[in-house]
Amino acid sequence: MTGDWLPVLRTEVPGPASRRRVDVLSVHECPAITARRARRAAALGAADDDPLVWSEAVGANVRDVDGNVYVDLTSGFGVAFVGHRHPRVVEAVRRQSGRLLHAMGDAWPDATRIALLDALARIAPGELEVSILGLSGSDAVEAAVKTAVVATGRTGVVAFEGGYHGLTLGVLPLQGYKEAFTDPFRDIVAADRVRRLPWGCDPQQLADVLVGDKVGLVIAEPILGRGGMIPAPAGWLADIARVAREGGALFALDEVQTGMGRTGALFATEEEGVVPDLMCVGKALAGGLPLSACLGTRAVMDTWGASTGEALHTQTFLGHPLGCAAALAVIGLLQEEDLPGRARERGARLAERLGDRGWDVRGRGLMLGVAFGTRSLAISRTLQSMGYLVLPAGTRGEVLGLTPPVCVTDAQIEGFVEALARAEEETPA
Ligand SMILES: Cc1ncc(COP(=O)(O)O)c(C=O)c1O
Repeated sequence: MTGDWLPVLRTEVPGPASRRRVDVLSVHECPAITARRARRAAALGAADDDPLVWSEAVGANVRDVDGNVYVDLTSGFGVAFVGHRHPRVVEAVRRQSGRLLHAMGDAWPDATRIALLDALARIAPGELEVSILGLSGSDAVEAAVKTAVVATGRTGVVAFEGGYHGLTLGVLPLQGYKEAFTDPFRDIVAADRVRRLPWGCDPQQLADVLVGDKVGLVIAEPILGRGGMIPAPAGWLADIARVAREGGALFALDEVQTGMGRTGALFATEEEGVVPDLMCVGKALAGGLPLSACLGTRAVMDTWGASTGEALHTQTFLGHPLGCAAALAVIGLLQEEDLPGRARERGARLAERLGDRGWDVRGRGLMLGVAFGTRSLAISRTLQSMGYLVLPAGTRGEVLGLTPPVCVTDAQIEGFVEALARAEEETPA
């Protein structure tokens, strides 16, 4: 498997080795995590949906424990933008692990983390030159929410319908993707501090909500990712940024999915004519390792004040050396190989081939969606059985989300489009 393979299927999907492992998973993992049909899950009413079990991935290919090879059009939730197990990322991690595996977050920083903070400041749009590092996208958004509270003294947040910002308790009420995610926890999250407005709303609606000095943060994704690959209307982000600031709130862009080249620019905000006060990145940042960052202007970040020895915001693994080393490799690749430009070109090719078939394609760069309505989930399952991995997106799962790695080849694109046509034919309306 070299990353540019077409699917090679040796067994049914999922195969017997996957199923055996899923039986074990079924016993030992909380049943809410992985959809499956093994014994216990079935008893709990789970979907008829066993996962295949990954064992290896490189470039745009994934191999499962049965030896079946797939083309991954998800990049593993958008993480492997540079390709799974990119040799430069692997080498950076190998070298770093030979030197220093773990440093001490806020107490004693390590050189790799400092180099990464410097590199982030250099590539960031505008003057977003000060960062708080985290391990997940949710961490980065949590840091943005806390920063807004510190900077403005206001605890209200405005987010948007269809938006997704992670599931940790602090950011949970921001998501407008699925109420079911928030419902059981409504009493312990600050749901009453969050107002959600329609995606693409009239900026005046935002202005009306901002009256009264309560809202400190307005946060949006440049393209609704999980919410269905829907780009913001032209000029809208700049408009709501202006209105947010006029209302005394900070404006944050959640670029956890769009950032680091995915949309055909280093950050989607570059194409929007607006620089936010805070910007969250994660997913593709470290090419496969868990790392995220909330970037802000010096003026905003300085409102935290200086640490007096015990950091007001930190975590044990803050700025983990392996993640920082991997992120430095990713930033090098993005710049030296113009991977955002490559994402534009690959994305245009994929969108064109999908459009040729008359499908309703949306999105930008290598963050695309094809609307198949209620058939999307069934089509994604059929595609899996043909060796192509995709995930449904959209608040009703009405879209096939396509976020392949930037190394996806012409042959893989052609193979996928052919498979999609067959899957659509085989899936009853
Ligand atoms: C836009 C956006 N923000 C935040 C998150 C949360 O990231 P994580 O799952 O790493 O916490 C996601 C994850 O899909 C995302 O797409």
